[in-house]
Amino acid sequence: MSLDVSHVGELILVLDFGGQYSKLIARRIREAQVFSLILPYNVSIDTIRKYKPSGIVFTGGPSSVHMQGAPLPDPEVFKLGVPILGICYGLQLLAHMLGGKVERSDKREYGIAHLEHRDASGLFEGVDEKTEVWMSHGDAISAMPPGFETIGRTENCPHAAIANPRTKLYGVQFHPEVVHTRQGTRILSNFVHKICGCSAGWNMGSFVEHAVADIRARVGDGRVLCALSGGVDSSVVAMLVHKAIGDRLTCVFVNNGLLRKGEPEMVQQVFREHFRLDLRYVDAERRFLDALKGVTDPEEKRKRIGALFIDVFEEESHQLGKIDFLAQGTLYPDVIESVSATGGPSATIKSHHNVGGLPEKMNLKLIEPLRELFKDEVRQVGKDLGLPDEIVHRHPFPGPGLGVRCVGEVTKPRLDTLREAEAIFIEEIRRAGLYDEIWQALAVLLPVRSVGVQGDERTYEEVCALRAVTSEDAMTADWYRFPPDVLQRVASRICNEVRGINRVLYDITSKPPATIEWE
Ligand code: XMP
Repeated sequence: MSLDVSHVGELILVLDFGGQYSKLIARRIREAQVFSLILPYNVSIDTIRKYKPSGIVFTGGPSSVHMQGAPLPDPEVFKLGVPILGICYGLQLLAHMLGGKVERSDKREYGIAHLEHRDASGLFEGVDEKTEVWMSHGDAISAMPPGFETIGRTENCPHAAIANPRTKLYGVQFHPEVVHTRQGTRILSNFVHKICGCSAGWNMGSFVEHAVADIRARVGDGRVLCALSGGVDSSVVAMLVHKAIGDRLTCVFVNNGLLRKGEPEMVQQVFREHFRLDLRYVDAERRFLDALKGVTDPEEKRKRIGALFIDVFEEESHQLGKIDFLAQGTLYPDVIESVSATGGPSATIKSHHNVGGLPEKMNLKLIEPLRELFKDEVRQVGKDLGLPDEIVHRHPFPGPGLGVRCVGEVTKPRLDTLREAEAIFIEEIRRAGLYDEIWQALAVLLPVRSVGVQGDERTYEEVCALRAVTSEDAMTADWYRFPPDVLQRVASRICNEVRGINRVLYDITSKPPATIEWE
């Protein structure tokens, strides 16, 4: 991966050794207003030099330095004269590679520990002398590397923090990036500001300025196309590009008939009427429904929806004359070459449908102004650009839309039923003030009929499953614990107000083993 980051100024590189918190480290550093990038641990020293980092963090990882093939950085990294902070496995690497000793500890530590520090080096400046930290390790330092001193200890870990202030190499056995380490933010901030000498220059205001200038310079007097879905990512991309080149941006919004209630109207109202973007609305509902006729297999649905989207989008853009660029809402987590603990590629669980393959097919150059950002940063940019909260804080919605929430055959009447049920669910969540606590809430229509009684009549209708989850990044998720009266209200309203549903279930499966969507 190579990102052009020449515009961001100071940056901290996070070398990823496969730790589960690597992204969190990068985010925390950005919260301290210093730009950070994650690179795989075995990136070449020339690449590291190219980025001119002000500091480097070695992340934790599942390995032991004694394992055969244990991941090690290029030893030249220690000669760059750049401050390094090793976290957990990263600390053990410093000790192991610089002449100390790491051994399997007979006192493993997982969870909260109490750190006592005595530090004049700056890493713990402003941190209480006794403070809670989060530990998770089996190995520990048994002999210190020359030139280093111990600056912190816990009950079971005599070298919980080490420093060589002369060479500016630091290590902590605990995880400052997780919230359980009470003053972790302060420690990371000390590292980047006091030790690496970075100023606090990275913020979303400066990002917008640079991104707009970049887009202008790249596009010149060319024209840009953007597939606008109304989700936060494509909305922010459209707004940024519009700010940069105005009417030389054309957005295409495809109504595939699989959208939420009121969505086509909302997107047109916000972008065309309010922000005055050149927005082409394509009503392709009939074509999508035809393509989905008789299809019940989830992967087949996804493939057909994806393929047809590309066809429709391509047809539409051909009518626009010469277009040079396609703007896309790729985010940083999609770009990171993460180091998987097993070393193997991870399996494709579901085929994702966005605009994959389109740029090559249409011979367009890509513009991806959000490639460096995390989701919460994108939301901040959206806010700064004046997008309404309804878009900025909207729950994620999959590309194949309600097609993968209408289990069984996708038909217009079933989609209409599902749309109504979903709208009630979301309305009640909002009314209870819970919307922002939930990562995603959705309704699923099951092709299962059950017997009910309404008034004096026997009914035989379909079942609706509700799902609401909390999550950090959609990789894992837990079901949301609703107050029972909220669920009760939703179930009763759906059965009373929505034709075609007479029974409501609440999904209490986490991810894994389930996924967030049902298909
Ligand atoms: P799963 O169901 O895999 O979903 O646990 C994880 C997150 O991804 C969203 N999702 C998609 N997003 N195109 C998208 O842009 C897709 O094809 C797609 N499928 C699932 C899902 O809503 C959840 O937030």
